Amino acid sequence: MNTFEKGVQAYKSEKTDLKVQKEIESLKEILKDKLLILGHHYQRDDVIRFADFTGDSLILSQKAASADKPHIVFCGVYFMAECADILTRDDQRVYLPERLAGCAMADMAVLEDVKMIWEHLISNTGEKIIPVTYINSSAEIKAFVGEHDGIICTSSNASRIFDWAMERGNKILFLPDQYLGMNTAIDKGIAVSRLWTLDQLPNKTQVADTTVFLWNGYCSVHKYFSVDDIQRLRAQYQDIKIIVHGECTADVVQRSDYFGSTSTIIKIVSEAPKGSVWAIGTEQHLVHRLQERFPGKTILPLSLFGFQCSTMSMITPKSLLKVLQDIHAGRTDLQISVEKTIKRYANIALTRMLAV
Ligand code: 13P
Ligand code: SF4
Repeated sequence: MNTFEKGVQAYKSEKTDLKVQKEIESLKEILKDKLLILGHHYQRDDVIRFADFTGDSLILSQKAASADKPHIVFCGVYFMAECADILTRDDQRVYLPERLAGCAMADMAVLEDVKMIWEHLISNTGEKIIPVTYINSSAEIKAFVGEHDGIICTSSNASRIFDWAMERGNKILFLPDQYLGMNTAIDKGIAVSRLWTLDQLPNKTQVADTTVFLWNGYCSVHKYFSVDDIQRLRAQYQDIKIIVHGECTADVVQRSDYFGSTSTIIKIVSEAPKGSVWAIGTEQHLVHRLQERFPGKTILPLSLFGFQCSTMSMITPKSLLKVLQDIHAGRTDLQISVEKTIKRYANIALTRMLAV
């Protein structure tokens, strides 16, 4: 059995304990006037089935911003729950069923380091640099961006956000995902020679010659899809179409037929004709779900090592049940609450994004 097949077996064994399932259903019913459950596409099947809305980061931020229920449970990762807290009213509470469910990429941009690089860049140019952070970042980084005339993007709107930034400045500092920044810049026709990955500090001339400075973060799930995976599948299936998430490396994106957000992947594969053959480069729960939804299409994981986002998978039916029991009992241990000043500036950056 190869690694992917083992992954499928593990995924199929992710079956809800019936007792837990019944208790979640009954608490959802009791709390129905006060509760909204949001679920990201990478959540396990036995968790996402309880979500009132599912979506990518952009759609879920929009849902949080327009929510009127007092309790919002976010089945996703930490930065998503923080965004929901930033976008909701002070009398609403946001909960993450598992506090340790972070995003490794978001943790790669630490505020002190960002401030240091920012000072270096602005002291080496008179041109206006607009900071843009991918939504996969901490609330502190979002606040920094909001305070410095910047904006947030997701993988669905990165191209439009680049336009917004370039209308207001001459250069972009893109945080923290180097690959989403690089893929978006290349897609917009910015020459590779005008991109600078910040694993080295640029000197004055290099700052002058750069349009997009890329923080050196990456997603440990998407980074591992490779050109070899694409070549292997293209050799095996003549008419295969390859679609990957925008967090994949630029060489993978360049050799794929499409790239985009999780919602873009779902839309394109859903609309493809019966009988078509697809390889998908993203988190395995979403790939499996599409395989089950479209038995008339051949849907393959791009890699034999069906990669899983370990932190997204930390949310289980048991942890969901626990947070619902807490809400019912008035406990707030799992509430995610962003500090007031950080919230104010991060809200500026998020609201700018939602307006674009
Ligand atoms: P989407 O916004 O495309 O759902 O991506 C979120 C994410 O974390 C992908 O790794
Ligand atoms: Fe973060 Fe990658 Fe997991 Fe998305 S898949 S939440 S970017 S670690």
